[in-house]
Amino acid sequence: MKPIQVGLLGIGTVGGGTFTVLSRNEAEITRRAGRPIRIVQVADKNLELARRVTGGTVALTDDAFAVVNDPEIDIVVELIGGYGIARELVLKAIENGKHVVTANKALLAVHGNEIFAAAQKKGVMIGFEAAVAGGIPIIKALREGLTANRIEWIAGIINGTTNFILSEMRDKGLPFDTVLKEAQRLGYAEADPTFDIEGIDAAHKLTIMAAIAFGIPMQFDKAYIEGISKLQAEDIKYAEQLGYRIKLLGITKRRQLDGKTAIELRVHPTLIPARRLLANVEGAMNAVLVQGDAVGATLYYGKGAGAEPTASAVIADLVDVTRMATADPENRVPHLAFQPDAVADLPILPMAEVESGYYLRMRVDDKPGVLADITRILADQGISIDALVQREPAEGEQQTDIILLTHVVREKQIDAAIAQIEALPVVSGKIVRLRLEALS
Ligand code: HSE
Repeated sequence: MKPIQVGLLGIGTVGGGTFTVLSRNEAEITRRAGRPIRIVQVADKNLELARRVTGGTVALTDDAFAVVNDPEIDIVVELIGGYGIARELVLKAIENGKHVVTANKALLAVHGNEIFAAAQKKGVMIGFEAAVAGGIPIIKALREGLTANRIEWIAGIINGTTNFILSEMRDKGLPFDTVLKEAQRLGYAEADPTFDIEGIDAAHKLTIMAAIAFGIPMQFDKAYIEGISKLQAEDIKYAEQLGYRIKLLGITKRRQLDGKTAIELRVHPTLIPARRLLANVEGAMNAVLVQGDAVGATLYYGKGAGAEPTASAVIADLVDVTRMATADPENRVPHLAFQPDAVADLPILPMAEVESGYYLRMRVDDKPGVLADITRILADQGISIDALVQREPAEGEQQTDIILLTHVVREKQIDAAIAQIEALPVVSGKIVRLRLEALS
């Protein structure tokens, strides 16, 4: 049977991995797909690199539009990244009736509604397994494996760079800046690490997961995003003493508020009990915990980045597209798991209404009545304390740290309490506030 013709846009790390794995496992992949999958064209600005990776076996060009406009190409694999030229190329490929496979989470989180609508209209497929958690087949799991379930919530470690940094901070007791520099030296963090460390990359991936878990449009602009750059080593240490680890989690939850369904969509450093499997996901690894009403909790773990792990997801999509290319578009698995006319416009919950446990650290005068003042304010706000420790002051010190954990409350309650506690004359500076999830 004639091989399906693939045009690859970008032959960097993932493109190179895709080329290598497709060649190495050609026979096995063909047995699965039903016909060979062949990369016949590669577009990259760096033609020398493209020549080296492909060994001169495919047509090369530095014009990506030449690939998306080539009538011989059946599937375009977009591995350029970003929301600029990648959006134009993907929309052009769709307009030309080509299927698209992409690892571009930023593009889908920001322009996904436009892209999926265009693909739907044209009857072409968009594969995006590689866009979330690299090699972990989480899109397939949410879209197909868990399709009987009402998904209740998802909590994921979906950024390897920040998980590596947090693991190192905890292991070595080092501050964020020092570990970031080391991560950059080792190639774990990029020269401009903003997207990773500020939680933006995780929010892109979370936005995509929320869309297919709850059948809602992409709403990246409504996501709450807080990264790890302000996290202090002492909070990691105190959390550990209380039996918790701090992870950058992407959390999305179905909630009822005033009789209406709304969705929580948030990325932030989070305390989780150290005994949970998710707390023990270390280094650059990714993991996603999904709670379904029928199945309960399921956990997906693996490499969230890298040449061959991400290629594994890209090729899985290539096989899916190859198998379904001749099927009636009506009979294919819907892109966003729900039928397009069944996508619900559920609102994203404002952070003030989000419910969470909280970790508070405050610097206080070491004298009688201080603790009583603080606990009175918390009680007045209806906030219940789950654990509390006071560090013994060093000799001659007049001040000390109080660290407390609360039961689950609304964020607006904790913020009101914090404002009152910070106004007490016996409390110095700002209170450190982190969110806590029991994950049960
Ligand atoms: N930069 C991402 C991470 C990998 O650190 O996990 C690609 O999504």
